Amino acid sequence: MDNAQLLLGQTLAFSGDPFALPPEEACRLERRGAVLIRDGLIVATGLADKMRAAHPAVRVTDYGEALITAGFVDAHVHYPQTAMIASWGKRLIDWLNTYTFPEEMRLADPAYAAEIAGRYLDLTLARGTTTVASYCTIHPVSVDAIFEAALARGQRIVAGKTCMDRNAPEGLRDTPQSAYDDSKSLLEKWHGRGRLSYAITPRFSPTSSPEQLSAMGALWAEHPDCLMQTHLSEQTDEIAWVRALFPAARDYLDTYEAHGLLGANGLYGHAIHLTDREKDRLREVDASLIHCPTSNTFIGSGLFDLAGLVARGHRIGLATDTGGGSSFSMLRTMAAAYEIAQLRGTAVHPAQLWWLATCGSARALRMEDKIGNLKAGMEADIVVHDLASTPAIAQSVTRAGTLWEALFPTIMMGDDRAVVATYVGGVLHRA
Ligand code: GUN
Ligand code: ZN
Repeated sequence: MDNAQLLLGQTLAFSGDPFALPPEEACRLERRGAVLIRDGLIVATGLADKMRAAHPAVRVTDYGEALITAGFVDAHVHYPQTAMIASWGKRLIDWLNTYTFPEEMRLADPAYAAEIAGRYLDLTLARGTTTVASYCTIHPVSVDAIFEAALARGQRIVAGKTCMDRNAPEGLRDTPQSAYDDSKSLLEKWHGRGRLSYAITPRFSPTSSPEQLSAMGALWAEHPDCLMQTHLSEQTDEIAWVRALFPAARDYLDTYEAHGLLGANGLYGHAIHLTDREKDRLREVDASLIHCPTSNTFIGSGLFDLAGLVARGHRIGLATDTGGGSSFSMLRTMAAAYEIAQLRGTAVHPAQLWWLATCGSARALRMEDKIGNLKAGMEADIVVHDLASTPAIAQSVTRAGTLWEALFPTIMMGDDRAVVATYVGGVLHRA
């Protein structure tokens, strides 16, 4: 028996970059569309009637007017911070010391790490997120926990051991050598297994000595196909601290660059307060900047310059930054990206927001040939949204003329109630 299946509904795919083209010309929308899935891959997309006629024996799930798109890709998260999300009243360094580090300490326990990893992936799958790039803690068991949980769910994820050898409490510090050794053995254990990818993960310059940054740079040079994830220029106090810790550095980015940690496969979270030199270098190497809008407002970090950085040609992904971010939902994250851009004088089009949460983040993770779009040959990671999921959204949608008018209330007001189904590699996820 063929394992193929057809999903029917409104389908939305991207044929181009809605920041480079008029947004509506970069999209392909079918009011009655179909997605044919076989062996975990999207085999074809097209019109529902035609696809049904061409594949009469195939199992069909008809989602009616619901919207079928690629699953969301969250390009920067800290799964170990799941339980302390929405902790009140601190700015970055104080927030790390008060809430984050004590919670991360608890992931030394493999049973707790496994519980949080499973809880995190189920919470995010229920919100339509099929791929994440996650920090772990300094504990290798925290890396095993998230990869085991992703393997059990068939997910494509990126994760890595967070490395810190200073300015963190006892029990949450490694050394340059142990960080190198542990990262290397985790990389060898997990990278490329199934759909899993390892990311070399120095947390940020304040918590790594120059020796540790060099060790991470050396490991990256040995494994240049791996992603490297870190934080860059999130808060002004943090930048002043980095200046004091690295007096010889030209700027924050230089603390990475000088240690072999600037490259095309680099993911730089936040990137809010950049100098022109930093922007030029990041653009030259085509590194990815990861916009974390709910975190940037929640921790009071600043307003990411989406329009300006897009205009300069930067590669940009979108992320929740759970648990500095205040939500697990990429809908809420798109809403916050819209609001921050409004405060900077730009109204981001709904097509651009949806693209950032799917294709854009996949591109930031260098996975745009595998995930992030509804296209033949892509992996069948798919989310189905009800565009009238609450009375408040439904009453607003009755006025919509275009799909974009119908979709925008869900972007701004939607939550997990809007997610009808999430497919991972063609398999319907059930928590
Ligand atoms: N900078 C260094 N670590 C973190 C973290 O865990 N969250 C955020 N938002 N910023 C950081
Ligand atoms: Zn972060």
